[in-house]
Amino acid sequence: MISTIRSDQALNLRERIVGLDRQVPLLDGRLAPYIFLDNAASTPPLRDVIEAVERFLPYYSSVHRGTGFKSRLSTVAYDQAHKIIGRFVGADLNINTVILTKNTTEAVNKLSYRLPIAPDSVVIATELEHHSNDLPWRDRAQVIHVRATPEGRLDEEDFDRQLAKYAGRVALVTVTGASNVTGFLQPIHRLARKAHAVGARILVDAAQLAPHRRVDMKPDDDPEHLDFVVLSGHKMYAPFGTGALIGPQEIFLQSGPEYSGGGTVDVVTLDEVHWAGMPDRDEAGSPNVVGAVAMAAAAQVLMDVGMDNIAAHEEALIEYSLDRLSGVPGIKVYGETDGAQANGKVGVIPFNLEGISHFLVAAILGYEGGIGVRSGCFCAHPYVVHLLQLSGEEATTWRTQLLDGDKSNMPGMVRASFGCYNNTEDIDGLVTMLERIVRGDYQGDYRLIPSTGEYLPANYDEIFAEHFLLED
Ligand SMILES: Cc1ncc(COP(=O)(O)O)c(C=O)c1O
Repeated sequence: MISTIRSDQALNLRERIVGLDRQVPLLDGRLAPYIFLDNAASTPPLRDVIEAVERFLPYYSSVHRGTGFKSRLSTVAYDQAHKIIGRFVGADLNINTVILTKNTTEAVNKLSYRLPIAPDSVVIATELEHHSNDLPWRDRAQVIHVRATPEGRLDEEDFDRQLAKYAGRVALVTVTGASNVTGFLQPIHRLARKAHAVGARILVDAAQLAPHRRVDMKPDDDPEHLDFVVLSGHKMYAPFGTGALIGPQEIFLQSGPEYSGGGTVDVVTLDEVHWAGMPDRDEAGSPNVVGAVAMAAAAQVLMDVGMDNIAAHEEALIEYSLDRLSGVPGIKVYGETDGAQANGKVGVIPFNLEGISHFLVAAILGYEGGIGVRSGCFCAHPYVVHLLQLSGEEATTWRTQLLDGDKSNMPGMVRASFGCYNNTEDIDGLVTMLERIVRGDYQGDYRLIPSTGEYLPANYDEIFAEHFLLED
């Protein structure tokens, strides 16, 4: 299995990723190939996406209101983008609408304003959520957080308990499709069936799921149907500022949008407003047409490559990574670490090295290994505190220090996350650097910056100008 994922066989996607050939400077002045393992934050663009944007830009014009050829063409492209994104998530567009947003965060916020929620209703979320699928609900309803198991999976017994306890009052069940901290996949269709059985709808935050696994909303009359899905273009190889909210038209047609203005109406008098149909009603102002084209182009490539092929490649890479990482002295990998569980998660691996700050590990990887990762709490504070098994007292001490402006002791982890183009050489590069860090074999004199918690090497000036700067 593992031997099937050498770089030349990595779905041939490597050559289709922009910037993989770009060398980056190291602390000692050498240039090195960049190993990008921070795909859970944002992926690099696909060349196909850039090409689609370049082909489109000579025709770019305003949509829906212009009568010229370019406007007419842009309107068709923009409408097609909605359809392609709808197809990407298996939505029936006779019933559902695709609303283009800036990103997942905006999409969840939009739904939190637009979903009718009765005063005594609850929203059932989970302890695994990214803040973007938790905080928007807190102002709108009582949010019940279903517990995670000690290793960080959803505690489905607790889910069942909460659902039964609040049956009849659950406005929404909202779950992440895949965790941005552990990569754990949720049984979204099983949860959908259970939510529907008590009359609730379900939202799946597919920000981390969509780049890795097929998202299928299923027919609207299927008990396992996903009512709402949100996702981000920049996490699926199209970093042009577009995300999407997909859900039933009838929900949005019940009321006016939370954001109004040009494009959202059919008729306005000085006293009356007649809102437009979907999705115009919920896409106020001039939309990001280029972003829509880019996101749709990316969705089309992922569908053409086949999400099942991407998943198979990634599972093999996860298995390889867990195996290689287990040999690093003093490493603690969070979540289940058994390679055999690779099909239960997407390529996101959080870890710590014993006795070394996660901020420091991430800094050394970046400055001396040319390896891009992320460290900290990944916008999922409750989940990370749970995974780290911090006592209540430890968590309180840290929060107090942080609120006083000192992030020196901020708990966290290092996160390596894969895209569809990563290969075993990338993992080997990571493991080699981690082994060096454990041996103390690094050069920089890293200084802690208490206000951010980051470590920066002393006496080092970044040389961005040789790579890219808008002005010197
Ligand atoms: C699971 C999950 N949900 C939501 C978000 C927010 O996405 P965005 O920053 O594109 O709004 C992220 C981003 O990391 C995420 O991983």
